[in-house]
Amino acid sequence: MSNLSYSRRRFLTNSSVGLVAFCGIPTILNAMENMHGMPNLKPNKASPNFKPDVEFDLLCKSDSVSILPGRQTQVEQYTALLKKGPKETITGIAGSYLGPLINLQKGQKVRVNLHNKLTESTVTHWHGLHVPANMDGHPMYAIASGETLVYEFEVVNRAGMNIYHPHPHENTAKQVYFGLAGALFVRDQEEEALELPAGEFEIPIVIQDRLFDGQNQLVYSRNMHDRMTGFYGDQILVNGRPNFQIDVASRAYRLRMLNGSTARIYKLGWDDGTPITVIGVDGGLLEQPEIKSYVMLAPGERLDVWADFSGRKEGSQLVMRSLPYLGVLPKMASQMGGMMRHANSLAVGSEYPIFTVRVIKKISDSPKLPTKLSKINWHQANELANPDKPIPIGISESPMAMLLNGRPYAYNDIQDIERIKVNTIQLMEVFHAHGGRGGHESEKEGVGMGMMSMGHQQGGMGMKHSGGEHKEGRQSMGSGMGMMSMAHPIHLHGQQFQIVSRSINSGEESDYATVQDGFINSGLKDTVLVMPGEKIRIIKPFQDFKGLFMYHCHNLEHEDMGMMRDFLIE
Ligand code: C2O
Ligand code: CU
Ligand code: CU
Repeated sequence: MSNLSYSRRRFLTNSSVGLVAFCGIPTILNAMENMHGMPNLKPNKASPNFKPDVEFDLLCKSDSVSILPGRQTQVEQYTALLKKGPKETITGIAGSYLGPLINLQKGQKVRVNLHNKLTESTVTHWHGLHVPANMDGHPMYAIASGETLVYEFEVVNRAGMNIYHPHPHENTAKQVYFGLAGALFVRDQEEEALELPAGEFEIPIVIQDRLFDGQNQLVYSRNMHDRMTGFYGDQILVNGRPNFQIDVASRAYRLRMLNGSTARIYKLGWDDGTPITVIGVDGGLLEQPEIKSYVMLAPGERLDVWADFSGRKEGSQLVMRSLPYLGVLPKMASQMGGMMRHANSLAVGSEYPIFTVRVIKKISDSPKLPTKLSKINWHQANELANPDKPIPIGISESPMAMLLNGRPYAYNDIQDIERIKVNTIQLMEVFHAHGGRGGHESEKEGVGMGMMSMGHQQGGMGMKHSGGEHKEGRQSMGSGMGMMSMAHPIHLHGQQFQIVSRSINSGEESDYATVQDGFINSGLKDTVLVMPGEKIRIIKPFQDFKGLFMYHCHNLEHEDMGMMRDFLIE
């Protein structure tokens, strides 16, 4: 604890960070607005006062790689060049289009020089890391082709798996789809003391779906249907490889999983019914392992899995599959789906393999699963700035508009509920507002005072599941909007949050029952899957840094459609 505040203080005296205090909405700083109202800032330069422990160049560029047999595939890719720091900071995934693994230690000061060698603008976001607003990869910091952007921050996160990926305005999904994404691991002493499987026994598993044409080239489209449901490929890639297979010895492994798909949600389960032993999620280790028959993994979410192959026969196989589930897509869209362009052979919610584990060596010794993994500093109800008045995150969806709190993304459009005092801990509520753009009336009813005041009346932090709360919303949604309701992985930038409660509308329980045992609510999260009819309460700290921090759907097609907003921490 005192460690953190020490480093925080030290960090805040740093001049590159001193800027933060003034840059809530940096309309000054030579801001030139583009046509979407997004300012175009001068790229940050290296600060002479910042003394990095680790420094590397990160390049975004086009390349071609072998993915399928035959022709190479054109991709966009991150590559990195270490300039200072331990050599294991950057480790490649051989032959993959994914960016290299970035391995950082808590407490390190890091400088990254992002070089944009693409033909369009980009910016990189450190998904999961708690960094100053001007280091977070907000789209207003996007740099043009040929430019360089310098990031400087201290790693204050606990150990965990994070993601780095582009975040340019309305163009995130496409850049991620063509290959720009990678995993970033933070290590700390608490984790090291556990001596979990490491080195060759710790395996990153980045799951993505892609669509290829006859020439082995990636296909991406943004027609109305794809944008509304999200874009789905018909081929599963793990670490950039089709038919991914890992060869293991009969012992325990640590699988670090990440859903890097733009939209596809997985219901993970071993094919022989072996339960999944979860030891961590987005924000690092759980306090103790959770044993699940299956686990849901939505875009942006991570999963730390203890996979013990002890006692398995040499030559035996185990397959990680996505299991059948219901309710993720709008009912209307699934009906439309048949008529649309790619009648996908890998339908959402169908069953299909993701990767195969092959036991190739029998050994007798294996590490044992620790019963106690970590200590999480949970925030208590009495720390909340707003115990009776949760900050709403109201989801509304329609073919024309994907909105949060009734509004599409717009720069410098901060509403009162989106202003948050720095160094506070907030209760928040994510729910389906069913407003859409189906008309001003429903919009008002859905996310206007009706829904927002509900929180006041309900009050408290009860874990009680009260299905009746959504009455108003359900009336306003009518038959039409219910057809549009779908699942959304909602992501909040900045610090990780804890999940307080989840409840489901009466009438939506049957689809929900096919996924509800797959949520891990006992860890720190930065992305949470919100099913149709579901309402989720979270507690999130907003500490240390002022400025704009985004919240958005991590269905990246939805994000680009505007299902994204800013919180202004002030
Ligand atoms: Cu991983 Cu704002 O996103
Ligand atoms: Cu993020
Ligand atoms: Cu969404």
